[in-house]
Amino acid sequence: MRLVKVRSHEEMSEFAARHILDKVKSNSKVSLGLATGGTPVRTYELLIEDYRKNHTSYEHVFTYNLDEYAGIAADHPNSYRYFMFEHLFNHINIPNENVHIPRGTASDIKKEAKRYEKLIDSIGGVDLQILGIGENGHIGFNEPGTPFDTRTHIVELTESTRQANSRYFDEYSEVPKHAITMGIATILKSKEILLLASGEQKADAIYRMFEGAVSNDCPASVLRTHQNVIVIADEKAVSKLEKVRIG
Ligand code: F6R
Repeated sequence: MRLVKVRSHEEMSEFAARHILDKVKSNSKVSLGLATGGTPVRTYELLIEDYRKNHTSYEHVFTYNLDEYAGIAADHPNSYRYFMFEHLFNHINIPNENVHIPRGTASDIKKEAKRYEKLIDSIGGVDLQILGIGENGHIGFNEPGTPFDTRTHIVELTESTRQANSRYFDEYSEVPKHAITMGIATILKSKEILLLASGEQKADAIYRMFEGAVSNDCPASVLRTHQNVIVIADEKAVSKLEKVRIG
């Protein structure tokens, strides 16, 4: 696992956007695993800025999102589908049919999880997976305790995750209790993984990911078993790590 320390959220986003653009330019049919949340928003903005300026084409790019809330309609402003179109897809030339996001309102949600897993299997895992990290070390919606061999599945969200995500909802009670997410084994199938972290609220999770045991108490620690992971973290996110290493 390679750690790239950067000074700020902006530098983290610039590094990530450059990395994604390199992939898109060297392989026009690249498959990208994408995340929602606050962390990658600026990265997506930079991709849009590049698209407007340099016309980098996404015509043949395929995307696979990590997760989606269960029970929220695709066109609901809090759905992850809505988020992705708002923050990226509406502003670049990716065809709608190349975009894949789990369907949170599928009538049989377990069947939907199986369909999504099969889809990712059919491409042999994504070429590049972008990840954020939860304050409790979750990746995707794989909360602490999730077995490492889990495939795309339905999860019950923890209080800490619901609290963290409530900033996007009018009321805490509106935050869904369940989601559909790529499993840890699904994420590990990715050929390359780029994990982004910024802010001191992530410092604990980053510390545990690098220095703690590889254990499902901290799902992100499993990334130490993958051959091709880059972590881009700003000064605040690595603050606990540095204390340990310097001291
Ligand atoms: C989002 C996702 C989550 C987030 C994580 C960090 O698709 O799967 O694991 O990456 O919760 O969220 P932010 O970036 O809002 O701190």
